[in-house]
Amino acid sequence: MRTLAAETVDKIGQEVTLQGWVNTRRDHGNIVFLDLRDRSGIVQMVSTKTADAGSEDVIEVVGLVKKRPENMTNPKIPTGTVEVEITSIKIISEAKELPFPIDTDGYDIEEEIRSKYRYLDIRRSRMNKNLRLRSKVVAFIRNFLLEREFVEVETPILTKTTPEGARDFIVPSRLQKGKFYALPQSPQQYKQLLMVAGLERYFQIARCFRDEDPRKDRAYGEFTQLDLEMSFITQNDILELTEKLFSSLVAELMPEKHITQTPWPRLSHKKVMEKYGTDKPDLRKDKNDKNELAFSWTIDFPLFNKQSKEDFYYGSGAKVAPSHHMFTAPHPDDISLLDKNPLKVRGLQHDLVLNGFEVGGGSIRIHQREVQDKVFDLIGFTPMQKKQFEHMLTAFTYGVPPHGGIAPGIDRFLMAALGEPSVREVMAFPTSSSGQTSVMDAPSEAGKTQLVELGITVKSQKK
Ligand code: AMO
Repeated sequence: MRTLAAETVDKIGQEVTLQGWVNTRRDHGNIVFLDLRDRSGIVQMVSTKTADAGSEDVIEVVGLVKKRPENMTNPKIPTGTVEVEITSIKIISEAKELPFPIDTDGYDIEEEIRSKYRYLDIRRSRMNKNLRLRSKVVAFIRNFLLEREFVEVETPILTKTTPEGARDFIVPSRLQKGKFYALPQSPQQYKQLLMVAGLERYFQIARCFRDEDPRKDRAYGEFTQLDLEMSFITQNDILELTEKLFSSLVAELMPEKHITQTPWPRLSHKKVMEKYGTDKPDLRKDKNDKNELAFSWTIDFPLFNKQSKEDFYYGSGAKVAPSHHMFTAPHPDDISLLDKNPLKVRGLQHDLVLNGFEVGGGSIRIHQREVQDKVFDLIGFTPMQKKQFEHMLTAFTYGVPPHGGIAPGIDRFLMAALGEPSVREVMAFPTSSSGQTSVMDAPSEAGKTQLVELGITVKSQKK
């Protein structure tokens, strides 16, 4: 039976069988030290005979667990009080020399090469820890919400455009040649439709797809949100639920971290811009403290911004574009300003800020057909563009509860909380900044037959 490295401390005097990778090999003349690594950690093994296994080989070892003499213990590893005296060793699979070291934090290694050999990059303990923590974070979120009567729903990936300010990825249809699906920039419309459907409390660990320029806090292509929506609630309910969720998550899974201020400050957009010159202020007391987490809310955003070149999606003749997205409700006190002075209208938007990053965004939604229609007009939608969202207006004629929600980014939250320099450090197989996927090296050309079936002709690209 297999024993894990971490279990050896409880097996002094026993013979064990270990399986794993050779983490390091040190030759001291007629004695060889091998560190074995498995999912539980590392244990030192020693042999006085020849042991051919080299770094990163996968091995099986039978050996005797011995207590190390007092002066030979290693307090840096949990198994530092024992070592395994090798009786026999079998190489299951040999490893070539790795293209880069994995016993460092890896930040200085070129992105392209880390990405090409991502399965080796993940062997480094920092990446390994990040992915294990990410899994626990998602499990915690899921349990927290299920206990509070939320329903987890998977929404389609092959769908129609759901604009969130980026370009869509589109997928050609074979059955309806010349037509395309769009991958969702977020499940925004589906979650609102699920409120019309009466679920009242929805969440999803949702993959979102956006074709936009990458930045260190913005993954290219795809990323993950905790997407949630509730009916018959106020903005305060969303803020309180999110605060409770993330405060208890930090306490349970990141006990070394401390939160600067609770309850989290709620700052109006106007005040925060005046005081800090940004809508995502870094409110840490000590910016050198890697364990400080300063959460805050930015609220009372203007519903619209002046339209800029980046708002290519909306009507070109319009003066305004949505500040969050076009489903965000205007502040009830400002509805009369919609016609007169739309830029003065406040929206019921809330942004969750952590250490200077926007880690979540959401709002109370419009649930009246006429208000939604008005917003479409104000952002300059043509009748054709409006038709793309006709299903929302139709749904709003069948009894729709007041609703709202939020979507914290899982990648960006982890990046900010762990003080990692980029979202890629908390993703298993991120896309590189030039748009190449890890390991698999997509995008690639499609086969001739595929293109014929799809009715697509590709213009030759000038190299
Ligand atoms: P928004 O577009 O503000 O809102 O996105 C919400 C959160 O998603 C994360 N995020 C990203 N993370 C990594 N890479 C990206 N490219 C990226 N883009 C966004 C951020 C951001 O705060 N449907 C609305 C939510 C709602 O209204 O409920 C939405 O998607 O953490």
